Amino acid sequence: MVEVADDQEDAFLAIAREFSVIMAKREYGRTDIVRDESSPNCFYAVRHWASASAAESCHADPEIQALTARLYQVARVTHIVNGVRRADPLRLMLDDRRARVEADRRSGFERRVKDVGRPAGDRRTTNRRLGPRRLRGRSGEVDLVAAARRARENADARFSHFKVGAALEAADGTVITGCNIENATYGLTICAERVAMFKAISEGHRVFTRIAIVADTATLTPPCGACRQILWEFGGNLEIILANLTAEEGKHRLKTLLPLPFDARLL
Ligand code: THU
Repeated sequence: MVEVADDQEDAFLAIAREFSVIMAKREYGRTDIVRDESSPNCFYAVRHWASASAAESCHADPEIQALTARLYQVARVTHIVNGVRRADPLRLMLDDRRARVEADRRSGFERRVKDVGRPAGDRRTTNRRLGPRRLRGRSGEVDLVAAARRARENADARFSHFKVGAALEAADGTVITGCNIENATYGLTICAERVAMFKAISEGHRVFTRIAIVADTATLTPPCGACRQILWEFGGNLEIILANLTAEEGKHRLKTLLPLPFDARLL
């Protein structure tokens, strides 16, 4: 399922055409693009592979990978059925463990109670929602803000007492979290966003779709300049979701937060 960003339909269709040409030329198979009747920005890209090995060769094709990276800049892609990739037993085990930990919302609360944090403690302006923790938001996607809120609880902000959490979504749906970690020399402090991005890179992720950033502030906390640069270089035009501990959220595109960016293309 391909959810195309506003005003990016032409770019998406151009990428889809290039994709089909390569698929046909290299005999990987063919692709059908079907528009969702009820939501015009949404398409279904159906791949008919010539064979399982053709699909694997296609995924490994550098031109296809470059096109896919461009696609992720203009659309959010959710793989609904994947008949080729073999199930990774480690990933399944970790997902299972994560699901069990996240289901126990009280363990997060207890960590906060023990936390030294701000002198005033974690201020809450509304009551916490009761009931089981939702792993996925309303639209069926992973609840990135909830993941960033949980990551924030691990922040080591002993000097500023300003705790930040981040949750970065990779193109395959994996969520990589980060929190700020401060240092006695102050200057070696690292922000939540960079921790998340560097963790993700070190684990082999290369294509990203969104990042959620959470701090306990009435005015939502945007990424600092250094983080904008790192996010741009490794993540491109990410969707940036800003939130605090309550429901308030703001969505931006990195391009608008970092106009006229410097990157490797200018070297
Ligand atoms: N910080 C972040 O982690 N992310 C941001 O977007 C803004 C600032 C951290 C760095 C430092 O530990 C503390 O917040 C105060 O600047």
